[in-house]
Amino acid sequence: TDVHPAWLPPEAFRAIGSRRTLVRGDGLLAETVREEVARASALYGGGPADPAGPADLVLALTTATPLPPAAQALLDGPGADELAGLGDEGYVLARHDGVTVVLADAAAGLLHGLFHVVRLGERAFGAARPAQAHRPAMRRRMLDHWDNIDVHPVMGQVERGYSGGSIFWRDGALTGDLARVRAYGRLLAATGVNAISVNNVNVHATEAHLLTDRLGDVAAIADELRPYGIRVHLSVNFASPIALGGLSTADPLDADVRAWWAATTERVYATIPDFGGYVVKADSEGQPGPFAYERTHADGANMLADALAPHGGVVHWRAFVYNHRQDWRDRSTDRARAAFDHFAPLDGQFRDNAILQVKHGPLDFQTREPVSPVIAAMPSTRLAVELQVTQEYTGQQRHVCYLAPMWSEVLGFRPWGPDGRDVAALATGGTADGSVADSGTADGALAGSGAADGGAGGPGGGLVAVSNVGDDRFWTGHPLAQANLYAFGRLAWAPRLDPGAVLDEWIGLTFAASRDRAALGRTLHEMMDGSWHTYERYTAPLGVGFMVRPGHHYGPDVDGYEYTPWGTYHFADRDGVGVDRTRATGTGYTGQYPEPWSEVYESPESCPDELLLFFHHVPYGHVLQSGSTVVQHIYDTHFAGAEQAAETRLRWQKAEGLVDPALWARVKERLDEQVRSAEEWRDQVNAYFLRKSGVPDAHGRRIH
Ligand code: GCU
Repeated sequence: TDVHPAWLPPEAFRAIGSRRTLVRGDGLLAETVREEVARASALYGGGPADPAGPADLVLALTTATPLPPAAQALLDGPGADELAGLGDEGYVLARHDGVTVVLADAAAGLLHGLFHVVRLGERAFGAARPAQAHRPAMRRRMLDHWDNIDVHPVMGQVERGYSGGSIFWRDGALTGDLARVRAYGRLLAATGVNAISVNNVNVHATEAHLLTDRLGDVAAIADELRPYGIRVHLSVNFASPIALGGLSTADPLDADVRAWWAATTERVYATIPDFGGYVVKADSEGQPGPFAYERTHADGANMLADALAPHGGVVHWRAFVYNHRQDWRDRSTDRARAAFDHFAPLDGQFRDNAILQVKHGPLDFQTREPVSPVIAAMPSTRLAVELQVTQEYTGQQRHVCYLAPMWSEVLGFRPWGPDGRDVAALATGGTADGSVADSGTADGALAGSGAADGGAGGPGGGLVAVSNVGDDRFWTGHPLAQANLYAFGRLAWAPRLDPGAVLDEWIGLTFAASRDRAALGRTLHEMMDGSWHTYERYTAPLGVGFMVRPGHHYGPDVDGYEYTPWGTYHFADRDGVGVDRTRATGTGYTGQYPEPWSEVYESPESCPDELLLFFHHVPYGHVLQSGSTVVQHIYDTHFAGAEQAAETRLRWQKAEGLVDPALWARVKERLDEQVRSAEEWRDQVNAYFLRKSGVPDAHGRRIH
């Protein structure tokens, strides 16, 4: 069966394909732009414009000579200011005298500009548009694939993957379907993603060899992605000098170890000159790391940074370091504290090309977590914020859960309160005093607004996410989970985009061929806008997290992790529930935040309801800011959440006939499972707290 075109169906190119387009510029990515235009024209009857004749669309490098008149007019006119400092990927978009113009200094900018025109569709060829610069806020916008070459006996091929096998690896080798890899690169380029890591952060024996004798496979992937401006990175095992190099140690300060990494890295660049760099999970969940040699994580990261530096590469060093062999009887150890405790003291010790990759929350991609305090604690370190597009803890691509609203909250969080920089600015590396420039509007909401994407592609570490893609025909298992992948790229480019407007873009492109798009759009918004909150309502309450089945993490198991070594507890007893992370009486975690949050979170009175049980252990009768008690809130939200899941399914039932029947059926099948699972969550969580607390539901509903 055919692979679904996701957000680039042929119809999305109708506006361009039916017009006369002139592309001026040289280089691989300019060729890609030409090919895209040619492909669209072949479908819709447009074509290349005669360089001397009229054109509807001009895409030109500023260095092209002679410039087409419409582009030259932009350069000479009011567009000149906008053209300053476009960088490697930026572009200016304008429409004047009936010509739509994209100008860029580098060919990647032309490609991003082309996809901007694709998003606009017919609107790109309507009213005049003042010249407007668009640059990515984040310099690096990266997806990590947790893909293995081999099929892991427990995890399957893609760790935490819910979309079939890997698109890169098949039957123990590089995939034979490189066209699929290229199609993936094309989809990603249209969102703005420009980097990808092709193997799991847990680097097993086979995959370790990608660094050396199987490097050719990585090079082949890089060849497919390069025309779309995407650079390839590799997860490496810290103990590679032992496993692959035959050395007796992997000590980062050992001269032989350093020489091995330098030589190995040199070979990587000889094979893949534009290789991006390494991703490392060290001293984490059993992976080897510098602790074995009594070295710091700065020593470890810097060793790899030094090997990469001569070639312009970076190391993404993950901050997900904690004790996963904890004793639940020990109340003083708090997993949430771990990343800060390990890394904050190392601020200022990392090389410029070492990027510390921090999960957005202190635990592990839960449905609701506070923002990680590490993000505010390391002003002299390049930080990348890591999100999880794959829905490990948010419904595993069986439940509808549009995550952009969550990411948007994270990116807009200001660790130092209203006057400080927000998380997006920290990841961008904006200036100390202000934030990155206004990130403007999504195309769907453009309506003549003059706001640009803003941002400067600053020196920060950027945004990284775990991909949700597999060899599934819809790419992401649940077709609606495609929207999360799309939104990640768009938010990494422009973190202040409105999640609803991004969803509009995604709907407009993906369903460009559907009949009654207005009705379909309304239905999808009703299903997706609030789906994260719906999921939150029927799962673990008030920020306490987990309560999932151990191992695979799907479905409810309130006490599943309660007495395990993983450090993920809720401490429910007959009187109350929640984790005391205060300075006054708990683990002291609140002290890792700057003011005002260290105070806000410290007191149950000021702590936001949605995070109450993350920070506090409270009695069931504790009254929330909402006016409800904790236990009544649990009952109410669980009944409401399961009901909303059922409403979501009803809405989709009414959309039958508006979309491709295969896609409709796949979504329907997933919704049936979501409704079943939501009821299971509701019943287990409610029954658990009724039995623990003995407090009946104020509304007398049936609790089992
Ligand atoms: C989670 C996830 C693991 C993954 C880990 C990581 O714990 O369950 O499968 O390896 O995160 O981010 O490294």
